[in-house]
Amino acid sequence: MTEEDSFTNDETGDVVRRERFSSGPAREFLSSLDADERIFTADIAVDRAHVIMLAEQEILEVDTAGEILSALTDIETAGHQNLPAGEDVHAAIETAVINRVGDEGGRMHTARSRNDEVATCIRYRLREDLLAVLQSLLDAREVLLSEAAEHVETIMPGYTHLQPAQPVTVGFWLASYENALARDTERILDAYDRVNQSPLGAAAFAGTTFDIDRGRTAELLGFEGVIENAMDASTTRDMLVESVNSVATLGLTCSSVAEDGIIFSNRGFIELNDDYASTSSIMPQKKNPDTLELVRAAAGEVIGCYTGLATTLKGLPRAYNRDLQRATTYMWDAVDAAQDAVDVTAGAISTATWNTSKLQSAAGEGFSTATGVADLLAQNGIPFRIAHEIVATAAEPVEEADETETAVELLDEAGEEVFGEAVTNRVEIQQLLKALDPTANVAARDSRGGPAPEELTRAIADAKNRLDEDRNALDNRKTAVKKASKQLTAEVDNYV
Ligand code: ARG
Repeated sequence: MTEEDSFTNDETGDVVRRERFSSGPAREFLSSLDADERIFTADIAVDRAHVIMLAEQEILEVDTAGEILSALTDIETAGHQNLPAGEDVHAAIETAVINRVGDEGGRMHTARSRNDEVATCIRYRLREDLLAVLQSLLDAREVLLSEAAEHVETIMPGYTHLQPAQPVTVGFWLASYENALARDTERILDAYDRVNQSPLGAAAFAGTTFDIDRGRTAELLGFEGVIENAMDASTTRDMLVESVNSVATLGLTCSSVAEDGIIFSNRGFIELNDDYASTSSIMPQKKNPDTLELVRAAAGEVIGCYTGLATTLKGLPRAYNRDLQRATTYMWDAVDAAQDAVDVTAGAISTATWNTSKLQSAAGEGFSTATGVADLLAQNGIPFRIAHEIVATAAEPVEEADETETAVELLDEAGEEVFGEAVTNRVEIQQLLKALDPTANVAARDSRGGPAPEELTRAIADAKNRLDEDRNALDNRKTAVKKASKQLTAEVDNYV
């Protein structure tokens, strides 16, 4: 290193390499060092695996490898905040290594580029984040299913267009969201498996003249395989698009749970635990569902990240372009927001209290049993379209009738008017009264996937089995990552 290439840091006394460019006014703008804190540990791991592979391939002397690996441990202990200046975490860690080892430390960057390095770090860290989201997701599903099992018979109104539609149960509502979260799980697991591939060794984008072993670094870092084409490996960020997309879908699911929760609180169907509510600074009587509103907003944030990411990537030419640096942060913001959304949603729902009597009386409002009544007429020989018309004709007065007996009379009148026959000619009064009762009305809807308590109980048991399978899928992936990380530590210990 010549004197022009370096200067001494006044505070630390360390030799700091002067960057060839980027030390001018755009220095801050160019740097990703602060944002790179997220991949600090990942970068140390990637450096370790690379150095070990270089030593195994006899590209690097074993002693030099040992010195670099010791320096890396030292740098890891000192932490990201103590890194020397640098354009990014990769440059800063390399400088820190050279500061400790001397010029020989510069051999660490043999046969690689920051381009394959950063791509590897992102994947390495993203794995961890996706595993954490998956863990939260599975816990949320567990909460929804056990709550659902407790409420298979708790009648509540069901809505379409936010209008009373048909009575259902609280368990049915909860299970519907668990089923959606199960698909969100599948999508994230799927994305994970494509994230979990190693680009390391692609170098800048065009491979290297050194006899490296890409399979070995992949193995040391716990990746399932290697992304073959070097230009693709170092450049692509489709794993970010896919991952943001999958957590955005999760965010959307949570936002709908949240919106329902907000509406249910408004109607007094549900009371949130104080931990999940806020009050007003001026209106002392207020208890607001703020956490659920923030979940709703978090989904917007994740979608914003998706848009930002895709817009950044759109039309980028091959191969590496610096735009990619600003693509990464969308991923971290998205995964953080999605994680919060799912945790808070699960917490709010599991601690909320359902007002069962209010739900029960609201369940029959707006003649919500009408479809069941029409079904009954159709099951007794009246063509469904005519049955629909009879019930529609009766709907308005029935809605106002306060006795089910009066409702039967009104249905009879409507039958005569539309069909030329009183409906009680065709259907037993007892059956009609049952169809008009929300609880019996729900119990009759026992088609596959319907809300009848028995059918719902079967569906919940199935969903629990699927949840167990997903727990295994997650555990396998976690174990593989942990095992690789232990192995890497053991390999490092052979050198230091
Ligand atoms: N910090 C950069 C990023 O996040 C990686 C460095 C690659 N820089 C370069 N000029 N090729 O993408």
